[in-house]
Amino acid sequence: MDETEYYEGKSVVMDYYNKKIMAPMVRVSTYPMRILAQRYGCDIVYSEELIDFKVKSSHRVVNEKLNTIDFVQKDNNLVYRTSAIDKNNVMQLGTGSAVTALEAASIVARDVCAIDINMGCPKYFSIQGGMGSALLSKPETIKDILTTLKRNLNKPITCKIRLLSTDQETIDLLRVIESTGVSAIGVHCRMIPERPRDPAHWDRLENILSNASFSVPIIANGDIWKHEDIDACLKKTKANSVMIARGAIKNVSIFSKPEPVDLKKVIQEYAELAYQVDNHVVNSKYVIMGMLSENGITNNKEVKAMQVSRDYDTITKIWDINDKYKSFLDAEKEKEQNIIKKLDNNNDNNNNGAEINKEDKEDKEDKEENVENKLKKQKIEQEE
Ligand SMILES: Cc1cc2nc3c(=O)[nH]c(=O)nc-3n(C[C@H](O)[C@H](O)[C@H](O)COP(=O)(O)O)c2cc1C
Repeated sequence: MDETEYYEGKSVVMDYYNKKIMAPMVRVSTYPMRILAQRYGCDIVYSEELIDFKVKSSHRVVNEKLNTIDFVQKDNNLVYRTSAIDKNNVMQLGTGSAVTALEAASIVARDVCAIDINMGCPKYFSIQGGMGSALLSKPETIKDILTTLKRNLNKPITCKIRLLSTDQETIDLLRVIESTGVSAIGVHCRMIPERPRDPAHWDRLENILSNASFSVPIIANGDIWKHEDIDACLKKTKANSVMIARGAIKNVSIFSKPEPVDLKKVIQEYAELAYQVDNHVVNSKYVIMGMLSENGITNNKEVKAMQVSRDYDTITKIWDINDKYKSFLDAEKEKEQNIIKKLDNNNDNNNNGAEINKEDKEDKEDKEENVENKLKKQKIEQEE
């Protein structure tokens, strides 16, 4: 990979105005989904939430075969994959500690365009670890985490919050966050106890933003299900950008197409990308099942076949792209054989080189022997 080109692709300046953003989604916002979203016009892609300790314990590997940068743990567990085409990639961290957040962010900083801190997750695992929405009631910890990251990293820092019980409390929280110098704030328009099925409160964000102005761009999130909701949400809330989660799982073409692209075509595209970038099949299966389920498809023959699928051969058969998959495998095999041939040729050349060196050496030794003999002869003659 051309590293120079790669680094030019990663920005240290991010524009958060008028942007369509794919939300952080555990197990969904992985590498192939982010690439597909960008193909469909998404401007900024968040990763799934990654826990600070996990990122901290990973190391950076240049994956020559895939042209990607991989962050892997000791047991080869892939934590995060990105590349030059994964533009405007934001890593979302789950953290409750400024020190650990900085350690984790430092590992990936050069390969991401921004770091986001999850301040909205209401799950037990997050709360008991002082992460996610547990942070919303700890303004001092919020300040500590965000200012520590801001001070030490040359990258935009953002966070994603939920609405608090009252608009005034939410404004106060936004002010605290604004004071840390973050580059954007995502607002999931639901409160902590609310579930995804509860409607998002665009009206509350509208009220907040009409009663207080912020110097930092605000990203509205919640219940954007079709392309036209993007403008509707911006118009209603007066937020600067939008962030889409389930609407993107339902049909990732939401970012650019007024009419959703045929679901089967989207799944085919996703599956093709997934095997090409060597995405773990269990993850790909999860994402495809999510696409079906968000479209209310839970019990047809494809769903049943997907449920028992274990590999890309089966998955590509279900979605009628097995021929493409086979051609891909053949091409990969050919590539590998060419590499092996090249390596063999290099070895042969090196061996020939070794032969030549050997001859040179023998020649030199012969010459040295001759000189030595001549000197001996001269010495004997002189003595005589
Ligand atoms: C499958 C799934 C995984 C999610 N994982 C995360 C996550 O890792 N971090 C986060 O901040 N929010 C996460 N969320 C919440 C979304 O980012 C978003 O705030 C929420 O779904 C509301 O947006 P929506 O109405 O467009 O779905 C997740 C949501 C879903 C559906």
